[in-house]
Amino acid sequence: MTMTTIMNNNETYHEHQPVLLHESVEQLITDRSGIYIDATLGGGGHSLELLSQLNDDAQLIGIDQDDEALAAANSRIGDDTRFSSIKGNFGYLSRLLPPELRGEVAGILLDLGLSTHQIKEAERGFTFQKEGPLDMRMSNLRGITAYQVVNEYSYEDLRDVIYHYGEERLSREIAREIIDRRPIETTTGLREAVESVVYGQHQIKSVARVFQGIRIEVNRELDMLRNVLEQALDLLKIEGRIVAISYHSLEDRIVKKFFKAGNHEGKIEKDFYGNKLTPIREISDGIIRPSDEEIEKNSAARSAKMRVAEKIDQPEV
Ligand SMILES: C[S@@+](CC[C@H](N)C(=O)[O-])C[C@H]1O[C@@H](n2cnc3c(N)ncnc32)[C@H](O)[C@@H]1O
Repeated sequence: MTMTTIMNNNETYHEHQPVLLHESVEQLITDRSGIYIDATLGGGGHSLELLSQLNDDAQLIGIDQDDEALAAANSRIGDDTRFSSIKGNFGYLSRLLPPELRGEVAGILLDLGLSTHQIKEAERGFTFQKEGPLDMRMSNLRGITAYQVVNEYSYEDLRDVIYHYGEERLSREIAREIIDRRPIETTTGLREAVESVVYGQHQIKSVARVFQGIRIEVNRELDMLRNVLEQALDLLKIEGRIVAISYHSLEDRIVKKFFKAGNHEGKIEKDFYGNKLTPIREISDGIIRPSDEEIEKNSAARSAKMRVAEKIDQPEV
């Protein structure tokens, strides 16, 4: 059964079941009176749980680039005076927040990817299970649509999106087929193009991978993730934490590398004596995954991987 929240404008928001809810909130809170940022507010599931555990003098700022997510979260928790929300892309986190928060934040949550609402709304164009326009934008702030990627990219660019972001082996064949079928107007049209090239049991996985690749390109998801990690480090206070929940290996690889070294090259800086100068330390012992019970209740949790890191005091060099 789909649960829904009625937003202020009387539209419905398909309820998103928060993934790794208790595990993430438990890892995030180090100071019950601290300042927290939920950079992927969605329907506010994680934020609600966070607020239930924070003191009256704590502060929580929720960020999302999606109007429908903001409306749903605000209708659920907008009355809590500890909570405020900001519309924007977390890739520009430092610009969205007041400068005095630099070095003051106790915890930042990144629950990456799409919400159930975004996936279920055919009009948003994310799902290949329903007919919809080729949109796939998480935000109306700006940017290209899936239509432009599908219908206007060169063969080489389209192939690379499908290969690198979709991790789809048959990227060349699929890109060629898409180009032959242009213009492709809908999600069904895109799905049919993929299905005419890939056969057998892998067909549906290939469709999912092509949709994933195009969605990542449209929303510049990997660039925005790299940006937010760097800026999060700057915003955190010493011993403040980042909790990142990712849903595919491309995201997790970026998070893993950054948590190891504090940069995207994965290069660990050392001082003259060989002491590590990394500004961050992964405190989860590798990946934290949802329990079998959670996956059984919520299939969207099956690919989730959570990592936790804290900012560390760097010695003076
Ligand atoms: C998995 S959902 C979060 C669900 C939320 N934790 C909850 O419990 O309801 C991810 C949310 O992050 C938002 N999002 C993804 N990338 C973003 C970005 N670069 N900037 C701002 N919001 C983003 C999406 O619009 C979506 O609402």
